Amino acid sequence: MKTQSLPTAVILALSIFLLSCSKTETTPIPQPEPYNGQSASQPAEPPGVPVSNNTSRDEGLKLIEGTDCLTCHKMDAKLIGPSYQEVAAKYTEADLDMLAQKIIDGGKGNWGHIPMTPHTGLSKDNAKLMVKYILSLKNQ
Ligand code: HEC
Repeated sequence: MKTQSLPTAVILALSIFLLSCSKTETTPIPQPEPYNGQSASQPAEPPGVPVSNNTSRDEGLKLIEGTDCLTCHKMDAKLIGPSYQEVAAKYTEADLDMLAQKIIDGGKGNWGHIPMTPHTGLSKDNAKLMVKYILSLKNQ
């Protein structure tokens, strides 16, 4: 009895194994695409931070790095102009428009007598992206 039941069990197990194998081969696991997109666009960021915010933040940083801003400004130390962290601490989103305009027009008086040079070639939208990045340093 024992010698007969063993091979049967092996054959049974084998055929189940083969069956389940061919099943997984012919039937791909259905993974809808939006699933992948979702997990890719949600890194270790805390919930409540909209993705678009991060994107404009990165764009703002790129714009700042692409112009002359960093010859006068540093993120965390005063140079010719105030550090961006100081600027972030002083203002809120409500000042976004005014600050963007000041980057374009230049000006002085808020931090001392040294003026900021105008950046007339800059669009208002890009200037706003820069300010958004600067203000995002508030929480660091
Ligand atoms: C020639 C040096 C110089 C350059 C280049 C420069 N800044 Fe400034 N920036 C200053 C100075 C000086 C101030 C302080 C002005 C004041 O006292 O109101 C300032 C102030 C600022 C402020 C705060 C404005 C306020 O009213 O408090 C922001 C925001 C700012 N700069 C962003 C930028 C960005 C973005 C760029 C690049 C597009 C840039 N700056 C390029 C010198 C510069």
